[in-house]
Amino acid sequence: MDLKGRHLIAPSDFSVAEMEWLFDKAEQIIKNPKDYTEVCKGQLLATLFYEASTRTRLSFEAAMLRLGGQVIGFSEPTSSSASKGESIADTIRTVACYADIAVMRHPKEGAAMVAARQSEIPVINAGDGGHHHPTQTLTDLLTIKLEKGEFKGITVGVCGDLKFGRTVHSLISALSRYSGVKFIAISPSELRLPEFAWEEIARSDATLEETTDMREALPKLDVLYMTRVQRERFFNEEDYIRLKDRYILNAAKLKDAKKDLMILHPLPRVNEISTDVDTDPRAFYFRQAKCGMYVRMALLMSLLGRGIAHGNQ
Ligand code: CP
Repeated sequence: MDLKGRHLIAPSDFSVAEMEWLFDKAEQIIKNPKDYTEVCKGQLLATLFYEASTRTRLSFEAAMLRLGGQVIGFSEPTSSSASKGESIADTIRTVACYADIAVMRHPKEGAAMVAARQSEIPVINAGDGGHHHPTQTLTDLLTIKLEKGEFKGITVGVCGDLKFGRTVHSLISALSRYSGVKFIAISPSELRLPEFAWEEIARSDATLEETTDMREALPKLDVLYMTRVQRERFFNEEDYIRLKDRYILNAAKLKDAKKDLMILHPLPRVNEISTDVDTDPRAFYFRQAKCGMYVRMALLMSLLGRGIAHGNQ
């Protein structure tokens, strides 16, 4: 599989076969990390973060360093010339003079696509507003695959802010391409899935039910994907306060859930998963964060075309 030089802006940029190839590669890295410590030697990753991040930025940086590469970048727009009015197009043209690959997070939908169109190096979307977050989805799918083996026929509850939650949009886009996946969307009516996600499901073999009641949905689920209400995307603080604690998963509510339920959350969490869930063996969200580093290692080396010629396949 040759992904060299490709951009990753939305999950649909990769075929199912390409995603599966990346998961296999990530599994190989997990099993034999020492084989990969020099795969990206001499390569430079630029992390362009116009919006806050813990996991995505640090896991990309850790991934590149663990592959023997190096990292430059900024973690907030005030420390780049964006604060002086520089356009995304000019920034990426400049970054391409210095780095071999770039990861961009930006509060505006479509920002990474604008960058990719102007870029001579691969651009990876690390989250564009309330639109997509494809590498979180690679992370989520690898986590599920390692535990369940496959995605066919699973029932996935997505809960919380489905309107602004870009991780949910990307998860639906990727998982709906597998056979017989059932989604149950659990949200207040104000935070329903946007039209583009409904349309994507309608074009696929997947099914979607909606409910406002998490407890009613819980016993049916193989995976529960909790999300934070995205305060930074609300126009009105009162609406945020009214909706933010609508769904709080705690140990008591899990009594009726399946024994092999997987509880995922892209993190950061606020109140939506009580800490008394953390010790439940069904809580996978920190293991999920670790999977993020491995799948990003697989992605970086693949987009840079590293590995095959170095005997690390
Ligand atoms: N899951 C995720 O995108 O986390 P960060 O915002 O901390 O990067």
